[in-house]
Amino acid sequence: MTAVLQLDKINVKRSFAKASDSYDALAGLQREIGLTLLRQHKVAELSGVVLDLGCGTGFLTRELQLFSGDKTIIAMDIAMPMLQAARSKCDVAFSCVDIESLPVQDKSIDWIFSNLAFQWCTDLVGVFENFKRVLKPGGSLVFSSFGPQTLRELKWAWAKVDDYSHVNNFFSVQQLREFMQQAGLQNIQIENSRHKSEYSNVMALMKELKGIGAHNVTVNRKKGFTTKTQWKNMNVAYESLMENGYLPATFDVIYVSGSNG
Ligand SMILES: C[S@@+](CC[C@H](N)C(=O)[O-])C[C@H]1O[C@@H](n2cnc3c(N)ncnc32)[C@H](O)[C@@H]1O
Repeated sequence: MTAVLQLDKINVKRSFAKASDSYDALAGLQREIGLTLLRQHKVAELSGVVLDLGCGTGFLTRELQLFSGDKTIIAMDIAMPMLQAARSKCDVAFSCVDIESLPVQDKSIDWIFSNLAFQWCTDLVGVFENFKRVLKPGGSLVFSSFGPQTLRELKWAWAKVDDYSHVNNFFSVQQLREFMQQAGLQNIQIENSRHKSEYSNVMALMKELKGIGAHNVTVNRKKGFTTKTQWKNMNVAYESLMENGYLPATFDVIYVSGSNG
């Protein structure tokens, strides 16, 4: 895979905008990952200017608010309805922006946090170079993302049916490390863990993905309708993976931190 993901950004924005009402009820795993991220990095006290990028409905933003310390939090997201949901929970500044074109001054930020948003960016080297620019010397970056084994069962089942891309592509631990090094970030620490969720059927998994806004947004996805036969064949393939009456779905979770010097 190259350093740039081919993603349909308009679709990313549209999918998350549509999911703002259903997200909280379905995002248990996302909350668990956000809490693990904070625990792993022992962020007891936060001070200065703190960004929460891809804040969604404000789960991590609210957690960040709870830490002691004299801080200004700015929560950012590409989808306005997500920001509106976050605004109803958190008393912080909000901005509707794309992480890939941050309108932030050089050396003005102390902390950048992000829970499960960077997998929706196309050019992570560019993103990390920008972070290096906006972070103060010694400022920190802490984020989680999904890795390449995510939804591998769904990918495998679709591969039995056609050659289209049905699942988003994700950068690996090695790639994330290289991109951060290339951007000049330092003190890079990465942890990788697998989470296995269980679903009673494929439709339950698809509904959850849709409800949290996690559509397939790869540029080479299949445009147009999936026929009943294709859907049925994919289901049959996926159901061959059933374990104890449930269908497994892997989430490959990557926890990362680094700093500007
Ligand atoms: C899986 S949600 C995570 C939300 C939140 N961080 C949480 O922990 O629940 C991903 C969020 O990233 C946002 N996002 C995706 N691509 C983005 C981009 N390029 N710039 C800003 N936000 C983006 C989406 O709109 C969505 O709200």
